[in-house]
Order: sequence, then C-alpha cells, then structure tokens
Amino acid sequence: MQNGWASFAANESERRRRRIVIEGEAAVAAWDEVMAEVEQACRERGVPMLGREKAEVLARLVAERQPKLVVECGTAIGYSGLWITRQLRENGRGRLITLELDPQRAEEARVNFERAGVADLVEQQVGDAKETIRQVKGEVDFLLLDNNYENYLPCFLGIRDRLVDGARIVADNVGIGEGEMKEYLDLVRREYPSETVWFDVDLPWLTRDAMEVTVYRK
Ligand SMILES: C[S@@+](CC[C@H](N)C(=O)[O-])C[C@H]1O[C@@H](n2cnc3c(N)ncnc32)[C@H](O)[C@@H]1O
Repeated sequence: MQNGWASFAANESERRRRRIVIEGEAAVAAWDEVMAEVEQACRERGVPMLGREKAEVLARLVAERQPKLVVECGTAIGYSGLWITRQLRENGRGRLITLELDPQRAEEARVNFERAGVADLVEQQVGDAKETIRQVKGEVDFLLLDNNYENYLPCFLGIRDRLVDGARIVADNVGIGEGEMKEYLDLVRREYPSETVWFDVDLPWLTRDAMEVTVYRK
C-alpha cells in the first residue's frame, strides 16, 4: 500500500497528465477551427496562401528537418505560418520568425496565431523583407520564400550568412513564377542540391504549380 505522500504524488502526476492531454486536445481543436476559417477567408477574399497540398509537404519537411529557427518571407494572414507552427509544436522545438510587408495582413495573422494557440512560437516583423531579413539574429535552419517572386533572390542573399549547413530552403510558385525568379532559381540549382516538386493544387486561382526545395551547403 502506498504511503500518504507517494499516493498524493501519484494522484498529482495523473492529474497533471490529464490536464496536459486535455489542453493538447483543446489546442488541436482551436487550430483546426482557425485553419478552416483562414482557408475560407483566403478563398473568399483572394488572399494568397500555399494551399493544403503544398502545406502538407511543407509540414513534412519541417518534421524531417526539426529546425530550431524557421524564417518565412510573406506571412499574409498566417495560413502557412499556422502549418509551420503546428509542426514545430509537434516537434517539441523550434520557433518561427515571419516577415510581412502589409501591416493589416500582419495584424490579421497575429490574431490567427493567437486564436490557434501558437503565438508563443511566432515572432512577426512588419516591413520589406529585403530589409527586415537582415535583422534576423541567430542560426537559421529553414527558410520559406513566399513573398513575390522578384524578392526571392535578395531575401536569400540577405540571410545566406546565417543559414546553417543543411538548412532547407523552400521557394513557392516556381511553376507559375519561374521567369520572374530566374536568377534565384539559376543560383540555387547551380550551387546546391535542389528539387522541383510539382503539385496539382485545389485553389480558385491555381490548379498546378511547384515548389523548389533546396538543401543549403556552406
Ligand atoms: C503569397 S502571399 C504569402 C502567403 C503565405 N505564405 C501563406 O501561405 O499563407 C505573399 C505575401 O508577401 C507579402 N509581400 C510582398 N512583398 C513583400 C516584401 N517585400 N516583404 C515582405 N512581404 C512581402 C504580400 O503582402 C503577401 O501577403
């Protein structure tokens, strides 16, 4: 038979375990709800977003890489950021710094991160990512480029010295925007292992497109 203290500790530990499970379930419910709303808002208002097919691959890459710091150029209203941070939570490590030019979109994203229960994993910077990316401190092991095609090269060059060996770089819209991001694509395809991943996309404004996944090497 357990003595009083051991029994109290066992009960306490069980109570804590249950609370964590319940909080975890509540967080998942909140994330699902917010994601459905954000997806609908993007579709109705034409706010650009990755879309589910690409987001699932993005989350898988974040799961494989287990990054400590993800930098995203182009927050919009937080669709891709929600996918990234859900995976970071699942990984049990890592945070996201996300950069957006439009203050209204950034504010909307802030509310969405808050409501989905992932705000503690996110730092937002408002302004031109070509400038703000230069202020990012620390080693970066995952970079998402999704902020107008002509910005990919300057954003990459603006953070290249803080990318760790083996960092993943994911560039969106390389199917539809190939011409406008030619210099970026020429550089990463020439210098680093790079793969073009094609998708059939279910978006009102897009049915087929690709992401470029690059492994950065020092
Ligand atoms: C395709 S959307 C991003 C979608 C987002 N990654 C998602 O999947 O939810 C591109 C975003 O980049 C922003 N943007 C455009 N130029 C930018 C710049 N120079 N710096 C930062 N953000 C920029 C736009 O305002 C827009 O919200």
